[in-house]
Amino acid sequence: MPDRTRRGFAQGLLTDLRPVFTPRMVLSAWIPCLVITVLHYRTGAHHAWGHDVLRRLYYLPILFAAFSGGLRGGVTVSVFVSLVYLPHAFTSLLVQDPADALEKGLEILLYNIVAVVAGLLVDRERRERERQERLAIRLGDALAEQRRIEAQLIRAGKLGALGEMTAGIAHEIKNPLHALKGTAEILRDAVPEGVPERRMLELHIAEIDRLGQTADRFLSFARPIPADRGPVEPKSLIDRVVSLVSTQARQGGVETVAVTDGAAALPKVMGDPDLLAQLLLNIALNGVQAMAPGGGGTLTFSLGTERQGGKEYVRVRVANTGPPIPEENLERIFDPFYTTKDGGTGLGLSICSRIADEHEGGLAVRNLPACGGVEFSLALPVAEGIDVRRNTA
Ligand SMILES: Nc1ncnc2c1ncn2[C@@H]1O[C@H](COP(=O)(O)OP(=O)(O)OP(=O)(O)O)[C@@H](O)[C@H]1O
Ligand SMILES: [Mg+2]
Repeated sequence: MPDRTRRGFAQGLLTDLRPVFTPRMVLSAWIPCLVITVLHYRTGAHHAWGHDVLRRLYYLPILFAAFSGGLRGGVTVSVFVSLVYLPHAFTSLLVQDPADALEKGLEILLYNIVAVVAGLLVDRERRERERQERLAIRLGDALAEQRRIEAQLIRAGKLGALGEMTAGIAHEIKNPLHALKGTAEILRDAVPEGVPERRMLELHIAEIDRLGQTADRFLSFARPIPADRGPVEPKSLIDRVVSLVSTQARQGGVETVAVTDGAAALPKVMGDPDLLAQLLLNIALNGVQAMAPGGGGTLTFSLGTERQGGKEYVRVRVANTGPPIPEENLERIFDPFYTTKDGGTGLGLSICSRIADEHEGGLAVRNLPACGGVEFSLALPVAEGIDVRRNTA
């Protein structure tokens, strides 16, 4: 046998034998086997009952070996027992077992039969347990996915109903606003400059404009979001949002950090770059606003991948070091019109949530327990069938 083949064979044998020589196997099978063998060889031929007992005691280590090492463990020990018992059974080496030759032969056969049957049963039981564990893990994944989809459906349902109502109200408000603005402008032009009534009419027109802008925002919330989807590099998204938010961040004394090491190796995601940038910008601005009262803080962007329900996702995280969101409000912040800000519409996050749904992704929020602060994370499905790692798309 060539040297390398011999080494490979020896390594294979060692790997095969490792489970048979675990500490548990040594304690429960090998040491008892050796003790029984020594006692057996040292028992005088006139103690026939002692030989009977010791011969049968071998079943204990054989069964222990099968229980902890399965078929392989049981058979290795039963073959070992057969080999060490053979000289004692059929030769006069030290002392010969005084029992009948047929009985001793049958006993050796039985050692091996017991080992095979017990080992097979244990192996079957073990395979069944592993199958159940795999099933339980798959079931857990499926349940988590179902809960996520349920939450999305509830959110989408709420948004759909509210969207229709909002669109109706906004539309009804906009028409009379046009007429009000038109007549106010005619009246203002009729009043000469410097007269106090003219200033009042200008204020009147400015308020009408503000109402019009709010109605427009409500309408944009209600309209379906047209997505122009294609493969998007996650890092380019982050770079774009960091530069968009930089002015407000600087004004609020907030430092922006983009952790994008290894981002070049990340897969591309399938999405509309403008909508995804709008979503992340909304979140980033919320983060800056949350830190603003105390002045300063850090806004951190990072990227990663994960598998969920058998699908691969890229996760974009945006974390800020501002005060945590009270636990009871964590889910409510995605509801339309939920706001804690003076002058906020409370539509930002519900639009973000719709954009995420539109991309078959998921938007989640959590308070960061270790360092404090809040983290929003957006999971986006990887663009399938594109070898993005080599940038061939
Ligand atoms: N990073 C954050 N830290 C703490 N609270 C936040 C954060 N982001 C959002 N929130 C909470 O969620 C609420 C809803 O946010 P959303 O963006 O939907 O509306 P808004 O920011 O209040 O109003 P608008 O977006 O119209 O300016 C906020 O008012 C705030 O209470
Ligand atoms: Mg907002």
